[in-house]
Amino acid sequence: MAKEDEKKESGDWKEFFWNPRTHELLGRTASSWGLILLFYLVFYTFLAGMFCLTMYVMLLTLDDYKPTWQDRLATPGMMIRPKGEALEIIYNVGETESWDSFTEALDNFLAPYNNSKQVENNDACVPDKFFIQEDSGEVRNNPKRSCQFNRTILGDCSGLNDHTYGYRDGKPCVLIKLNRVIGMLPEKEGQSPYVTCGAKKYKESNEWKEDSDSISEIAYFPPNGTFNLMYYPYYGKKAQVRRTHTQTSLYTQRM
Ligand SMILES: *[C@@H]1O[C@H](CO)[C@@H](O)[C@H](O)[C@H]1NC(C)=O
Ligand SMILES: *[C@@H]1O[C@H](CO)[C@@H](O)[C@H](O)[C@H]1NC(C)=O
Ligand SMILES: *[C@@H]1O[C@H](CO)[C@@H](O)[C@H](O)[C@H]1NC(C)=O
Repeated sequence: MAKEDEKKESGDWKEFFWNPRTHELLGRTASSWGLILLFYLVFYTFLAGMFCLTMYVMLLTLDDYKPTWQDRLATPGMMIRPKGEALEIIYNVGETESWDSFTEALDNFLAPYNNSKQVENNDACVPDKFFIQEDSGEVRNNPKRSCQFNRTILGDCSGLNDHTYGYRDGKPCVLIKLNRVIGMLPEKEGQSPYVTCGAKKYKESNEWKEDSDSISEIAYFPPNGTFNLMYYPYYGKKAQVRRTHTQTSLYTQRM
C-alpha cells in the first residue's frame, strides 16, 4: 500500500512537471507559457521605459552649475583651523611638540593664499560690494572669477612675520571660515557679516557661567572680523574654478 502510494505520488509529480497527454509543462501549455512570458516582457519593458523617461525628464531640470534645491541654515556653518580634537585647541606653550602640528596645519592651509598666488589666479575686486557675475539667460558667464584674498590681510596671523602664529607666545591664532553656500548674499543693512568671539560658556550647579577672566583681548584680522562682501556670492565649484576652497572666509583671532 505504502509503496503504491509512493509510486502514485512520484507519478503525480512527474505528470505535473510534464504531462504527455495534455502537453503541459508545470501545469501550463506552451502557448500559455508563451503568453505569460510575453506579458512579463512587455510589462517590464514598460517599467524600464517609464524609469528612463522619468530619469531623463528629471535630469533635464538639473543644472550642472548649481543645485536645484538646497537647504539653507539660518547661519551658515563655520569651521576653524587648525582643527583640534572636538574643536578644541589645547597646548602647552613650553612644549613645542604640543603645538607644532597646529602651526604646520596653518602653514599648509594658508599656502594657496600667498599674495603671489592670489594675484596670479584671482581678480582684484571692488571691496564692500558683491562680486556679481550672473549668466545672461542661457549664455553662461563661465568660468567665473574669484577675488583675491591676500595672505597679508591676516596680519599678525598670516604666519609671515611670526612663523609660529603666536602659539609660541601663548597668543594662538585661530582661523575661522564660513562654509560655502551657493548664491548666499550675506548682507544686513549694507553691513558685511562679521564674527565676534567670546568666552566659552559652561554650566556650574545649574547656572551658566562664562570664564571671561581667562580670555584676554582678541584681535581680529581683517579688522572687526568682517567677511568682505566682495567674496560673495559663491557660484559653485564647477563655475568658479579657481576659488581656493575657503577663500572667502578666513578670519583670525589672536588672544
Ligand atoms: C608662501 O610664502 C611663504 C613666505 O613668503 C613661503 O615660505 C612659502 O613657501 C610660500 N608658499 C607657497 C606655496 O608659495
Ligand atoms: C594683493 O597683494 C598684491 C601685492 O602683493 C596687490 O597688488 C593686490 O592689490 C592685493 N590684493 C588685494 C585684494 O588686496
Ligand atoms: C570696526 O568697527 C568700528 C566700530 O563699529 C568702526 O568704527 C570701524 O570703522 C570698523 N573698522 C573697519 C575697518 O571696518
